Amino acid sequence: MLPQLAYILNTTVDARVGYSHMPFTDYEEKYRKDEYYWGIVPNRLCYEIMKLRPPVKPYRVLDIGCGEGKDAVFLAKNGYAVTAFDIADAGIEKAKELARRNHVEIDFFKANVNEYMPDTAFDIVFSSGVLHYISLDKRKPFFDRLKECTSTGGLNVLNVFVAKPFIGIAPDSEEAERLVEPWYSGELANYYHDWLFHKNEETIFDCNSGGIPHKHCMDILIAEKM
Ligand SMILES: C[S@@+](CC[C@H](N)C(=O)[O-])C[C@H]1O[C@@H](n2cnc3c(N)ncnc32)[C@H](O)[C@@H]1O
Repeated sequence: MLPQLAYILNTTVDARVGYSHMPFTDYEEKYRKDEYYWGIVPNRLCYEIMKLRPPVKPYRVLDIGCGEGKDAVFLAKNGYAVTAFDIADAGIEKAKELARRNHVEIDFFKANVNEYMPDTAFDIVFSSGVLHYISLDKRKPFFDRLKECTSTGGLNVLNVFVAKPFIGIAPDSEEAERLVEPWYSGELANYYHDWLFHKNEETIFDCNSGGIPHKHCMDILIAEKM
């Protein structure tokens, strides 16, 4: 009965028996539909990467929480050597399919950002809409490792949702997000205080995910290892 129970409770068998505190992500369900939940238009940060590090050689990119792969595939099509992971199997499957359709090779794999530690070098680390899943105790070691694994002159191009008292929790936020301690303004930049900043900004934007209009606040950082 455990698999059925876990499915009904929107969690995993591991979580139910105490192996992991990470609940099953809602994206697993969202990504099972045929259409691409996030579309296939790349994030504008991909163009910033291209401006700062034009692909004159196959720069090694790590995409953390790649979802259905739109950004990973865009970067690979433009000549970057991309490695990408996400916790959602359905996302990885669709990302692989998108890569096949675009005739690019990408090293996709499944991993939990709360457990994964990179062990090879990258020139560019990219992540959009994912870092808010990292629990407070894991943040410093994770960013320390990302910084170590980035080549000198390499970039970390990251964004994270941050909490503001005047912006409520998104109506469609999932359990995994609510269980994690919120991020605050400037916290992400602080992990990179010793790098060169190309961008360090905060933006509030409207969102209609889940069909209910709401707002998000996001910190965006582009930092270079000197
Ligand atoms: C807002 S989506 C962003 C997806 C992609 N970066 C994009 O912009 O299209 C958040 C992604 O984080 C993934 N995710 C959630 N929890 C995760 C975890 N613990 N480890 C890795 N990925 C996770 C979800 O499966 C989802 O694909």
